[in-house]
Amino acid sequence: MTILVTGGAGFIGSNFVLDWLAGSDETVVNLDALSYAGNLRNLASLQGDARHVFVKGDIGDRALVDGLLASHRPRAIVHFAAESHVDRSIHGPGEFMRTNVMGTFGLLEAARGHYAGLEGGAKEAFRFHHVSTDEVYGSLAPDAPAFTEQHTYEPNSPYSASKAASDHLVRAWHHTYGLPVLTTNCSNNYGPYHFPEKLIPLMIVNALAGKPLPIYGDGLQVRDWLYVGDHCSAIRTVLASGRIGETYNVGGWNEQANRDIVLTICALLDELRPDPAGPYARLITHVADRPGHDRRYAIDARKIERELGWRPAETFATGIRKTVQWYLDHADWVADVQSGGYREWVKQQYGA
Ligand code: NAD
Ligand code: DAU
Repeated sequence: MTILVTGGAGFIGSNFVLDWLAGSDETVVNLDALSYAGNLRNLASLQGDARHVFVKGDIGDRALVDGLLASHRPRAIVHFAAESHVDRSIHGPGEFMRTNVMGTFGLLEAARGHYAGLEGGAKEAFRFHHVSTDEVYGSLAPDAPAFTEQHTYEPNSPYSASKAASDHLVRAWHHTYGLPVLTTNCSNNYGPYHFPEKLIPLMIVNALAGKPLPIYGDGLQVRDWLYVGDHCSAIRTVLASGRIGETYNVGGWNEQANRDIVLTICALLDELRPDPAGPYARLITHVADRPGHDRRYAIDARKIERELGWRPAETFATGIRKTVQWYLDHADWVADVQSGGYREWVKQQYGA
């Protein structure tokens, strides 16, 4: 048995591949274009492991995807590949449309062709699992109830609009062509291998380097943070027992303001790697807000719990401590990803 994972060299995809192969002998074919966010170092522990077949390529390359489906005959596709950073989508939305919308379209077409050729048990078992985000629902007022699966789609950034479009395509390929799809809409992840352009890893690596900790606007925007291992277990659960054509919201029951997240990271670093120059919170700097910045996201994850029995295993206190410790223990990984391209991004986004 084999599964095809797209984007399995990125943050969540690589955690998923490592988790999957830690608990199963089922081969993973990992298709990843190795954009700036894809990093084979995340998968170094799988070197020489025949259960991991890495293929460098684009999800939009139809001939390549058709060939992979024909030769490996996977029982499922788990689709992570995407452009994922909101700030980059504001500077350059084109790549988000190409990968997130057109790439997903190509993948769905390839999956449809593959599914049409399956028979019997193989056809019954086949699934297309689309990994999506809570950002498709837009922004919540402070006292509004958390997003349920019935919430209207109101994406506000080029990134979330491209993910919303991909969700609609997935839905339509089920409704029109009968492709057996599953969609998960997850809140903000954090954990090992998180690229340091996103809030939590950026704050950790900047603090350790004695650099400013840039908080957008007033820092009171709220996100619902989930440890990445819990997202992986949710995807495994939905893939195994989710109802075809359904969407499941995945979240950590952990709403926090950005400013509080940064203060928690500073306090942990003060404990684990004290800086002789003083508390890390001295580095906090308020910078210009993100254009169109969504104020609040919150996930109502009762459906996945009620139907499939999934709940996060980590609390924020345990997950963020593990995460900060991981970055302290992996200075070599951090140095490796802070390439020329990374430095250019930081200069463009935050100025000198
Ligand atoms: P990431 O940016 O870290 O990784 C994306 C991966 O996709 C990279 O390895 C990259 O090389 C690959 N990729 C990009 N374009 C490709 C293409 N055209 N063909 C093949 N591979 C390509 O992203 P992530 O944070 O790991 O997110 C993974 C998925 O989960 C995305 O679909 C994202 O929308 C979704 N998601 C992320 C979060 C989060 O908090 N990070 C939360 C909910 C949902
Ligand atoms: O909600 C799920 C989404 O979470 C995923 O779909 C996206 O792929 C993922 O990138 C993430 O999007 P966010 O925009 O919420 O994550 P980010 O880490 O970029 O920002 C989190 C919050 O922190 C947000 O309110 C913006 C703020 N922020 C971010 C950065 C990078 C800052 O204040 N300063 C910063 O330097």
